[in-house]
Amino acid sequence: MSWAVNTGRRRSGRRRAEAPMAGERAPRLGWCYRPVIPIPTADVDAAVHYGRGRSSVSGHTVTIFGASGLLGLGTVHRFARIGSTVRTPYRGDHYDIRHLKVMGDLGQVVQNFYCVRDKDRVAQLVEGSDIVINLIGRDYETANFKFEDINIDAPRTIAEACKKAGVKRLVHVSHINADADSEAKQFSTKRLGELAVLSEFPEASIVRPSTMYGYDDRFLRWIAHMNRNVLFPGDLVVNGGETVFYPTYAGDVAQAIQNIAVSPNSSGKVYELVGPKKYTYNEILQIYSDTTGAPISPLNVPAPIFKAILRMYELLPSNRLASRSDVYRLSIDETPTPGALGFGDVGVVPAELETMALRFLRPYRVVS
Ligand SMILES: NC(=O)c1ccc[n+]([C@@H]2O[C@H](COP(=O)([O-])OP(=O)(O)OC[C@H]3O[C@@H](n4cnc5c(N)ncnc54)[C@H](OP(=O)(O)O)[C@@H]3O)[C@@H](O)[C@H]2O)c1
Repeated sequence: MSWAVNTGRRRSGRRRAEAPMAGERAPRLGWCYRPVIPIPTADVDAAVHYGRGRSSVSGHTVTIFGASGLLGLGTVHRFARIGSTVRTPYRGDHYDIRHLKVMGDLGQVVQNFYCVRDKDRVAQLVEGSDIVINLIGRDYETANFKFEDINIDAPRTIAEACKKAGVKRLVHVSHINADADSEAKQFSTKRLGELAVLSEFPEASIVRPSTMYGYDDRFLRWIAHMNRNVLFPGDLVVNGGETVFYPTYAGDVAQAIQNIAVSPNSSGKVYELVGPKKYTYNEILQIYSDTTGAPISPLNVPAPIFKAILRMYELLPSNRLASRSDVYRLSIDETPTPGALGFGDVGVVPAELETMALRFLRPYRVVS
């Protein structure tokens, strides 16, 4: 084990301790000398062996695009807690991303303002990083960014910049339903985005998660919102509630991304990270009801009417809960590719929805 010197001054005003000479024992001043944990080289389990806490040094500098989202929370946490320097580019208000700073040691989680269209800025942000993770995505279009901009052009810009900067590992997050022939633009552009990334950076790892839940997700929160909103006559479902989902916990996906990023064996591979169990939408509504004690009454709504309702959400200021494109999200079955690499291949055992639901649905429990 080698030792990195923290050049900061002690609060007490005492002189900084000297770095140990060759052959000397490591000093006991924990805060002053941070153990350098060797970077794993061989197997995917290596990530879990860092384990020395956020004041250790993993040796990684990681740029995480899309850090302010649901998956960003877990991904920043996973890297920061093993002592990585984490760059978290953001585009909005820095308060949106401020909570991420405390996930790492002082000064190790860095916020950088950027616009993903600014190629020079993106190049600056990946310069010096050995790992880059792209979590940018959006389920709906805005006035400024269409699906093509977010799902194809942005990943291409990032992949191009990574290649030029000599980044070792690029992980690009796509979607389980990514399919160039999909009727839903958010899924067809996801597949085209994967191809754009691979054309610039063929060694990139592609991760395709299924529907994710966690803190501040748009899946369980939408179900709860619909169930509690007095304006709705019931729990609105499309496709008779028979759409198939493999809900997966965002924290498990984040852990898998970390394991993929530090494993040299994952280069150029596609991982489909789907939850361990298959549910219909109606079954998920039932889990919501069992967990919260709230009665449910599924009400099938034709897709055009559902779209019209969601359009009203789009008109609300600051709405991030629902949009018209959710009709596709809620009506297209999730279909993992048989034999695809998954959680098992990256050393993660994904949690079942039933065991995790209470953690996120606790605020919605009904007091009887
Ligand atoms: N959530 C799911 O169920 C699910 C399932 C499968 C795959 N995925 C994919 O997984 C990835 C992460 O998902 P998530 O749930 O964490 O998404 P999210 O919570 O919606 O976060 C998306 C991130 O992308 C950023 N972003 C969106 N538009 C941007 C733009 N024009 N310029 C720069 N940044 C932009 C957002 O930044 P702001 O905060 O500034 O908007 C945010 O940090 C996405 O690629 C998504 O498609 C998600």
